[in-house]
Parts: sequence; structure tokens; C-alpha cells
Amino acid sequence: MAIEKVGVVGCGLMGSGIAQVAAQAGCQVTVREVSQQLVDKGLQSIEKNLGRMVEKGTVTAADRDLIRGRLRGTTSLEDMKDCDFVIEAIVELLPAKKELWSALDKICSKQAIFASNTSSLSITEMSMFTQRPDRFLGMHFFNPVPVMKLVEVIRTIATDPKVYDEIVAFGGKLGKTVVRTWDRTGFIVNRLLVPYLLDAVRALEEGVASVEDIDNSMKLGCGHPMGPLTLLDFVGLDTTYYISNIMFDEFKEKRFASPPLLKRMVMAGWNGRKAGKGFYDYADPAKPKAMRLT
Ligand code: 3HC
Repeated sequence: MAIEKVGVVGCGLMGSGIAQVAAQAGCQVTVREVSQQLVDKGLQSIEKNLGRMVEKGTVTAADRDLIRGRLRGTTSLEDMKDCDFVIEAIVELLPAKKELWSALDKICSKQAIFASNTSSLSITEMSMFTQRPDRFLGMHFFNPVPVMKLVEVIRTIATDPKVYDEIVAFGGKLGKTVVRTWDRTGFIVNRLLVPYLLDAVRALEEGVASVEDIDNSMKLGCGHPMGPLTLLDFVGLDTTYYISNIMFDEFKEKRFASPPLLKRMVMAGWNGRKAGKGFYDYADPAKPKAMRLT
């Protein structure tokens, strides 16, 4: 089955990026948000990215118009009914996912394939909210989606191998390098990344070094594009805290346990860049000021 019509549920940071890359790959994309305001916000962010690409000459103005023409925003789930493939990137709350998947299961054709962009919830558990666990899998993208070259494609013990191969091929069509993995919390990237990020917080907490020195060490000593504390601010401290709790719950290993400082920063609402404050203060976004633990 050729995947031509793609549905994306959620048009936030991840959903808008997924909708953009699918439209760039030539698919007709319907992207759904819960309010028109959120639809407009997501589409504006895509528009901004495409504008930047035109300025840089990565796409022509004519191609930008074609891409734009393939994107349709909606607040109605019913508009997903003709989609060959639906990918969900909504809030990481199981009850919300349950409600969504049971509704989509009734709306979409039996042939449609479903995928979740979850970073930590169980794909198997979600697949059981539908009558199609064999046509259900995970497709985990990275932020910023239009830039990051990887996608993890996740199968469960119930995923039909043909469906799995189809979505692996689709990931390639989106211009991503696909890695294959199984439904275990954290998959590949977060299994390795989350303990590293948590260790950076522990190093700060234990007074090993300052925020800037921890970040510079990994940036300049290991060639990472961002230091771990900058990356935590970028991903969101609340998101990382949430993922680490799910991973700790699954594996019961100390390396996935959230350090007390991370928990307290989340409790204080210092969730990183989106909150204006995390390990850095973004009052002047051009010159983030590192937090001092004295
Ligand atoms: N959306 C779209 N494009 C963006 C963007 C965004 N939010 N931010 C930057 N870009 C583009 C720029 O336009 C530029 O494009 P060009 O190469 O065509 O000129 C390119 O990315 C580089 O941007 P900049 O020169 O402005 O800045 P940097 O060189 O510092 O790169 C970065 C920015 C790509 C974000 C880089 O710092 C980076 O790779 N950081 C690490 C990001 C990362 O690790 N992401 C994964 C997080 S983990 C995750 O998502 C999983 C989840 O489950 C937690």
C-alpha cells in the first residue's frame, strides 16, 4: 500500500515538524489540533521554517507553495478518515492517547496504519486501544524534526512485519535515517541519552563544575552540538523528568532515577527554554545566563 495521505494528530513542536517533513516528501497531510488557535500556531511555525529554507535556497518559492498546498489544518478528527497512515504526537498522557486511538480506530479504514511518536509510553499498551495491534507501531522523531536526520521505528510483538517494513521504507521517504527497534521504554536514543542528561544534573548537584563548564566540556571536548544542560533546556526539563520516571518505573535502575535538583526545578516551573528559565535564564534569548548553585 502506497502511503499518500498522512494524518498527523497534534501540531505542537513535534507534530508540526512531522507534518512539514511529510508534506516535503510529497504526501497530502491533514494535521489536527484541538483548537483553531493551535492549528494556526503550528501552521505558522511550518510557514516560518519554509520561509527560512526559501531564503537559504534549500527550496524554491514554487516548491514552498506546493508543500504549503499539501498541508491542511483541522480541528476535526473525522478529517483523518481517508488517511493511509496516521501518526500521533499529542500530550504524553495515556488516558488522552486512549481516547484518541479508540476514536481514530472507528473513523479510519481498517487498512490504515497507526503510529505513535511517543518517547516513552508503551506502544503495545497503546495498540490495545484499537482493533488493529498488527497495524500499530512507534515512529519516534527528534527535535527539531525538520533538521534531525534520525527516526526510530518501533515494532511490538504484535506488529505485522510487512507493515513494519512499509513504515521503515516510509521513514526513508521522509529523508530520515531509520533505526529499527523494539517496544522497550526509551527505545535506543532515550535509553542512552536520558542517563547521560541525568548524570549532568548530578554532576552539577554534586558541585563537580558550573553549568557553563559542564556544557563546554561536552561541546568542546566531545563535539556535541549542545552541552547536556543546554540540551535539557531545549528538550524541556518537565519532559525529561517525565521520561525518566517512566524509564525508572520500567527498569528499576538507578541510572534512570531523576536527581532531586531536576525534580525541584520542574516543581518550580523552571522547565527550560519554553518557560524562559531552566539551567539558563532566557530573559535575553540571545545571551542566556547560566544558573548559579551557591
Ligand atoms: N526548526 C527548524 N529548523 C531549525 C530549527 C528549528 N527549531 N532550529 C534550527 N534549525 C535549522 C536552521 O535553520 C539551520 O538550517 P541550515 O543548516 O539549513 O542553515 C540549522 O538548523 C542549524 O541551525 P543554527 O545554525 O541556527 O543553529 P545550530 O547550528 O546551533 O543548530 C540545532 C541548532 C540543530 C538545534 C543543534 O544545536 C542541534 O543539533 N542540537 C541538538 C539537538 C538534539 O539533540 N535533539 C534531540 C533531542 S532528544 C529528542 O528530541 C527526543 C525526545 O524524546 C526527548
